[in-house]
Amino acid sequence: PKLTVVSRSGEEKTVEVGEGLTVMEAIRDNGFDELLALCGGCCSCATCHVHVDPAFADKLAAMSEDEDDLLDSSDHRDATSRLSCQLPFTAELDGLKVRIAEED
Ligand code: FES
Repeated sequence: PKLTVVSRSGEEKTVEVGEGLTVMEAIRDNGFDELLALCGGCCSCATCHVHVDPAFADKLAAMSEDEDDLLDSSDHRDATSRLSCQLPFTAELDGLKVRIAEED
């Protein structure tokens, strides 16, 4: 399955994502260092914040209370905000586009 990543500067890159990775891992593995993902994916840092194409909203893993609380700490939260480490990249998400959120 393919994922398109849009960087903060608007650069787009479409990558092939291996099975079992999260969206965060796929972004990091493809050279987007601006996605800090400081906690390494354990839902405690909020530096893996992305905006997700609304067309895929109902295919995403449900948001936990912890993720919701962390996103609230961001000045850049909107209706499309998710923490990318909480999004397993399933085959259903083929063609998904995510934009890396502004830094808080
Ligand atoms: Fe820290 Fe996602 S990597 S919350």
